[in-house]
Parts: sequence; C-alpha cells; structure tokens
Amino acid sequence: MSGAGAARPSVTRLKLTGFRNYASLDLSLDARPVALSGPNGAGKTNLVEAVSLLGPGRGVRAAGGEAVLRRTPQGPDRLWAVHAEAMTRAGSVTLAAGSDPADAARRRTRIDGAAATQSALARIFPMLWLTPREDRLWAGPRADRLRFFDRLVLSGAPDHAAQASAYDKAMRERQRLLDRMADGARPDPDWLTALEAEMAARAIALAAARLDALARLQAEIDARPSARFPTAELALDGIVEARLAGGASAREAEDWFAETLKSARGRDSAAGRALTGPHRSDLAARHREKDQPAADGSTGEQKALVLALALAQAGAIRSQRGAAPVLILDEACAHLDSGRREGLAEAILTLEAQAWLTGVDAALFAPFAEAAQHLRIEAGAVAERS
Ligand SMILES: Nc1ncnc2c1ncn2[C@@H]1O[C@H](COP(=O)(O)OP(=O)(O)OP(=O)(O)O)[C@@H](O)[C@H]1O
Ligand SMILES: [Mg+2]
Repeated sequence: MSGAGAARPSVTRLKLTGFRNYASLDLSLDARPVALSGPNGAGKTNLVEAVSLLGPGRGVRAAGGEAVLRRTPQGPDRLWAVHAEAMTRAGSVTLAAGSDPADAARRRTRIDGAAATQSALARIFPMLWLTPREDRLWAGPRADRLRFFDRLVLSGAPDHAAQASAYDKAMRERQRLLDRMADGARPDPDWLTALEAEMAARAIALAAARLDALARLQAEIDARPSARFPTAELALDGIVEARLAGGASAREAEDWFAETLKSARGRDSAAGRALTGPHRSDLAARHREKDQPAADGSTGEQKALVLALALAQAGAIRSQRGAAPVLILDEACAHLDSGRREGLAEAILTLEAQAWLTGVDAALFAPFAEAAQHLRIEAGAVAERS
C-alpha cells in the first residue's frame, strides 16, 4: 500500500472501555485517514484523545488518568482502557493504554502486553498532533510554542522526552537547594555542581536535537513549496541553541552552560526558578510570502502555518524513515477556506499518513472522497460509516 516501502504506522483496530463518553467501542479500520464528523459533544475529540494515548506523552488533552474515566449518573467507572491493533515500525503489534488497577490516576502503556517506555512508544509508533489550542500558537505563550516544537522534535528523535525529563528533574532538584539557600541554609556546593553538570549535559542533547530537527524541517519546507500553505521561516531562540549554532563543540557548550548556571545561583535563588536554559527557548516563525512574523497573520493564516509545520515534520520523518507518523488533527479544518481544505487533503494523501481528523460537518472532508474512512459519531458511538 505504501509507495515509500515501510509499513504505514496506523491503527487497524481500536477498542475503548470506560473511556470518557464511550462505555465501549470496537472499531476495525484500515490504513487510510479517518475522518470523524458529528455534532458538538458527540465524542470526536474523546476518540482522537484515546488514539493519542497510544503514543508517547499525556495525550491531546494532557489529562490525568482520572479525568478520562467515564462518568455516569451512578458515579465514575473504576477503570478505563484503550486497546489497539496497530501497524508500526516493529510490524503488527498490540498497543494498550489504561489505568493502573493499583492507582486509577496513573496510566500504564503496553506494547504486546509488556510495559512500554515513552521512548519505545516514540520509536515504534511516532505520532504528531494538533488541537484547537495550537490555533493560537504564534500569538500565545512562549511555553506552549516550545512544548509544541518539542513534540515535533520527539516525533523524529525518540529520546528527546527522556532527555527533557532528566533535565527537568535535575533543574527541580537544584532549585530545591537554591530555595533553601534563600532561606539562609548553605547547600552542599558539590551537590549543586553535580546537578548543574547533569543539567548541562542534558541541555546540550536537547538543544542539539532541536537544532537538528529544525534544520530538517526547514529543508523539507524549502524542498516542497506549497501553493496552498504559507512557507515558514523558522528560527530557535535559546542560549544553548545559539552557542551550538555559533560553532561551539558539544563539550565547549556543556562547560559554558555549567559555568553559566554556577554564576546564576544567587539570581536563580532569589527568583525561585532557573532564569536561563533550554526550558526558556522559543520557536520563532515568519510567514515568508508576506514577510511578516507568524503572529501578525490572520486566524486562518496562523492556523495554516501551524498545519504546514506539522505536515512538513511528517514529510521529514517520511523521508528519513520511509513512512509518515500517525497524525491527529482535532478540528483540522477550522478557520481554513475551501482551497486550504483541499490542500490539506492533498498533503495528507501524498504523505500516505493515517491522519485522524475531526470536524462538525462531514462536508469538510469531501475532498478526501473514498481515500478516507468517514465515520459519523453520535453520543459516544459510531452512528454511520462510509
Ligand atoms: N470523563 C468523562 N465521562 C463522561 N463523559 C465525558 C467525560 N469527559 C468528557 N465527557 C463528555 O464527552 C462528550 C464529548 O466530548 P468531545 O470533546 O469528544 O466532543 P466533540 O465531539 O469533540 O465535540 P465538539 O464538536 O464540540 O468539539 C462531552 O459532552 C463531554 O462533556
Ligand atoms: Mg471536539
């Protein structure tokens, strides 16, 4: 089916139990895109959220385990589960996400029945998603943009999440010591130095992965100019990224950042947080054709630019690995005019990606015609499919 050789990552069967407004669901699918339509409150976003929980991270809603437990008038269900048969880089596997029976707030993820790490999931079942939250990406808070970009990086660099959480852990630990310093205690300087060395090592890995992803992404954007989507010019704004991009070796940049952290102890202690580092980086984007910052575009132009980035990242992964990741596009067509909606369908079909798209009206997905599976969702069930 795939012209690119590798099997197309896709969900071929999806079973839900006690998940949000789904008491149960058992859905057989093929590798084509899945277009979900239906009225507000039907369960479209819930369904794509369930799919997103099969990949690394906390899903499209970043919700804890308890929030997804199905609420009923008799009280919430006790357990939830998402089971899938999926085509992945490791061949056909079963993926499962569900509550830990010992602690409903915790999520367990399994590949073929064995506990799966985030890195393993990212490696075998890469996934990219956009939600209505990203409609405000360019004009919104820096932290949201960085989180979005890090998700793009993760889709091509499976260890990125592990590096980020190790960095955060060392940063939190260092801050605990610095907070005590603010209270007059004298923290062990060797312990602080060790934590800063750990932060520096992880910071270099994070920044290098971001720069690498950015270069691939920009190359993909430049290689495939689209008549329907704006062209993004991307840049990373971060002190460690700038150091590496400026020609420092990884070792030099690591030593420099460890030194920077050391000299910032007093300031970070007073501020109650680390004021510099890769957790403070930002993604800058310009709309090339209009020669203006992305944030100055119209609502639809801004959305088109975010979509263009996600599609380009999917293209970069396809060039690199032979198959595009699963794409989740909640409210895919919101703010897009008919030309852009056609362009979106064309781009997804060219990528040969199993994209999960939601929208209130089936007509939004007409450009896919028979190249997608069309499902109408009503009240937590599939009411119709074609
Ligand atoms: N834990 C839960 N248990 C039961 N129902 C829930 C739970 N969480 C959310 N819901 C309900 O599920 C319904 C469907 O939500 P969902 O966000 O999937 O709708 P949607 O089809 O995407 O609608 P829209 O077009 O408005 O985006 C909502 O009515 C919501 O209140
Ligand atoms: Mg929705």
